[in-house]
Amino acid sequence: MLPEVDHRLGFSPLEREFEIDALPVEGEMPPWLRGTLFRNGPGTWEAGESKMRHWFDGLAMLHRFGFREDEVSYANKYLRSPQYQHVRREGRIGYSEFATDPCRSIFKRLTSAFSPEFGSNASVTVHKLAGRFVALTETPLPVEFDPETLETVGVLEYRDGVEGIGTSPHPHTDPKSGDALNTITHFSRTSEYRVFRLPAGTGTPRRRIVSRIPAREPAYMHSFGQTERHVVLAEYPLVVNPLKMLLTGRPYAENLAWKPERPTRFHIVDRESGERAGVCEAEGFFAFHHVNAFERDGEIFVDLLAYPDDAVIRDHYMDALLSRRGPTAAAELRRYRLRPGKSASYEKLSDEPLELPRMNYEARNGRDYSYVYGIGQGEDQASWPDRLVKVHVRDGSALVWREEGCYPGEPVFVPAPDGRSEDSGVVLSVVLDAASETSFLLVLDAASFGEVARARVPHHIPFGFHGQYFGEGET
Ligand code: CO
Repeated sequence: MLPEVDHRLGFSPLEREFEIDALPVEGEMPPWLRGTLFRNGPGTWEAGESKMRHWFDGLAMLHRFGFREDEVSYANKYLRSPQYQHVRREGRIGYSEFATDPCRSIFKRLTSAFSPEFGSNASVTVHKLAGRFVALTETPLPVEFDPETLETVGVLEYRDGVEGIGTSPHPHTDPKSGDALNTITHFSRTSEYRVFRLPAGTGTPRRRIVSRIPAREPAYMHSFGQTERHVVLAEYPLVVNPLKMLLTGRPYAENLAWKPERPTRFHIVDRESGERAGVCEAEGFFAFHHVNAFERDGEIFVDLLAYPDDAVIRDHYMDALLSRRGPTAAAELRRYRLRPGKSASYEKLSDEPLELPRMNYEARNGRDYSYVYGIGQGEDQASWPDRLVKVHVRDGSALVWREEGCYPGEPVFVPAPDGRSEDSGVVLSVVLDAASETSFLLVLDAASFGEVARARVPHHIPFGFHGQYFGEGET
């Protein structure tokens, strides 16, 4: 009997690069769906004689699904980042990742800790920044790629002197100017979070710092919230002692300390003036992903996916992923209510555990909204996420898509061109079908959550993180 294939196939490498003009399609693709879905995630965790230790550290691979008339094309390619080049040339890891370190002499460790070299293994997501298509991660240098061929153009160097090490791979877009808003953490004796703007134009990319928030022990923040007036940084009690980090030279994740005695602090910053509009404290928790934020009657509401502590980071080491059935903790969809000067309170918006959240960003980001889409898992939480979930945040009800032996990735919402309601459109998700050892691109009707079509890829696609859809004419 063949050994049972399960979700762990999603953590096995895909070495080959493909270009396929037309995938076999079941069902009918919506005729209005004309554009490109880019996905990003690790393609392999192997680096010559060494291995990456954490899910987040695998070498970035881009995937491209093109939608034209009745056809769906597909291509994938490793990002030729400095880390990738080093691994392929030298047969070993060349730069520090989130939780993996190159073997280095003490001297080299110290010098590189004080002036970090970035491997720019940008495996987290894809964005259009300053008119360029880029792959992003949590280190500050994006990697530009060609949206047609997926060829790597090169590391996008900012000519602005803005220093910092940890940034968010989830920048927001200013709906008025099209500028990107983001945060970067500067580690030093006097560390600070810096909120910056990156203009939308295609000129030399220069970030402009709009606000600075001092932090003695900076927290690990993967994303932040944006309302119509403010950005909101949630500072969790998962922190780094910057001098210790610089001195030990150990990878970032091993310097993170969970300090449950500390609160979570919400920092509210005016998006235009940069003025700090207030701080609200809540009990300690951790989150990777904000979902949305909005204001009503002088109060700010921040929706995010909260974990009780930092165990989720340890759960995502490769050893744990390959030996266990699933993560120990699932994230809870919470709505925090912020009133400056008062402590923050929250309500749970749904009983469904959720991760990799998406919503109708163009229409509802920064505003009150109804729907969030994500990957979910059963109540026993013993399994790897095996379903797609649409939560109605106003009443907590949910729709679920699930198929035996299938493990879906982030559901990207694409609005229909004539969409009248918030959920007029489709969601696109790359689903691992363990039994057939292949993946397929699933198209669900966002309103009913029923299947519209699927396009099967002839191989498996390792579990990735995020992606972005661009309509015809945007690429
Ligand atoms: Co993310």
